[in-house]
Amino acid sequence: MGCVSNPHFGIVLKGRAAARPYSQSQVSAEIDKQFIYDFHLLSDYLDVLRQTLRIAVVYGGDKQVEGAVIHKTHNPRSWKSYEMVARDIQAALRELGFRHVALLPDDMHLAQRLKDENIHLVWLNSGGVQGYSPVTHTPSTLEMLGIPYVGHNPLNSTILDNKHLFKYELQALGINTAPFITWNASQGMLKPNTNARFKEVFGDYSGPFVVKPVSGRASLLVSVVKRLEDLTNAATDVYRATNNTVVIEMFLPGREFCVAVCGGLICSQGQLTKISGPFAFSPVERSFEPGEEIFTSMDKKAITAERAHLIGDEDTLLRQQLLNLARKIYSGFSLNSIVRADVRADTDGTLYVLEANPKPDLKRPENNVISLVTIGLKEHNMSYNDLIYGMLADRLDYMLTYRTRTIQHIVDLLK
Ligand SMILES: Nc1ncnc2c1ncn2[C@@H]1O[C@H](COP(=O)(O)OP(=O)(O)OP(=O)(O)O)[C@@H](O)[C@H]1O
Ligand SMILES: [Mg+2]
Repeated sequence: MGCVSNPHFGIVLKGRAAARPYSQSQVSAEIDKQFIYDFHLLSDYLDVLRQTLRIAVVYGGDKQVEGAVIHKTHNPRSWKSYEMVARDIQAALRELGFRHVALLPDDMHLAQRLKDENIHLVWLNSGGVQGYSPVTHTPSTLEMLGIPYVGHNPLNSTILDNKHLFKYELQALGINTAPFITWNASQGMLKPNTNARFKEVFGDYSGPFVVKPVSGRASLLVSVVKRLEDLTNAATDVYRATNNTVVIEMFLPGREFCVAVCGGLICSQGQLTKISGPFAFSPVERSFEPGEEIFTSMDKKAITAERAHLIGDEDTLLRQQLLNLARKIYSGFSLNSIVRADVRADTDGTLYVLEANPKPDLKRPENNVISLVTIGLKEHNMSYNDLIYGMLADRLDYMLTYRTRTIQHIVDLLK
């Protein structure tokens, strides 16, 4: 194998080909195709990629910007650019030594900009621009363009950002979620008393209910409806605002929690480690203020230590339950990137999953404003930059192990 100059590359010969002697040119051709990867090589590869890998952190494009879209249309999900958080991610990647880290909006110029800037990999931090299932549009475009990304694939983005689909799959996996029905104006007016599905799901239960959009954020348009007779109007209001399917579910009156989970290749104090299974962290209780029935999101009220605290060893059972739930979701849905599961208990303390946020807030924590995802990093000796580095490394490790052929342009940077 005298022609193998880089010790990290080699030739894998399989089946009958293994018995055949190879000529020098055949071997060279084979070297181009074959790439040997092992986790222990990742740190060295990342050192090379710090100099050569061109990354773009992508945030939500604004349809109001001239030329952002061809025709402005409706967005059933409340729009937000997430640009500030994208800047935090960009800054972290730069601090980690990556030389080329651009920031781009995901409007209709994205493909051209990715080409012009010769981007090799995207970090997705967008909820989309407009249209139905907007969270799915950018990963779908990147799949079509052949650009790998840190973020959820189009199928998982769709499932995670459509609460009813996520809940049906939770049920299939045997994970508790509040009993629910969906309603859409095309089904005619919602009539709880005669609706067969309503009876089948709720039986004699007559409230309170929670009415919410299938695709939403920041608790917007989420309301508690105490009386059965008020459901029709509440569901109609959500439909009018979103032009999309509405979820009607049983109100869970107990404590509220959330927990984050990502891939099992993590970074602590700059060192990469692989744990068995996904990495679940930051099990948090979100506290309600007197009279508050629905947790008010950070868009309306900053999340401070009074509103959210880490569940530590004082409640080991609850902590383990939440961490296990998060790992079960990550594996059950074959996720490839971070989510934050929101969980609420009923009166007897049984846990129910409300949703898993496909793009949890990754704001760099500062002063007394807490980020629900990063609150628990300290107990793993992890910094914000460690989280970002681990997420990137986890993605690259997965692709270099299982999908080398889909990232040939990155493999070429390592030769
Ligand atoms: N079935 C339910 N029972 C009790 N409370 C609920 C229920 N569904 C939602 N809530 C309350 O409403 C809040 C927002 O609901 P949910 O997480 O489903 O929507 P969201 O708008 O996507 O939220 P966010 O993006 O802020 O996490 C929850 O944090 C919880 O306080
Ligand atoms: Mg939520």
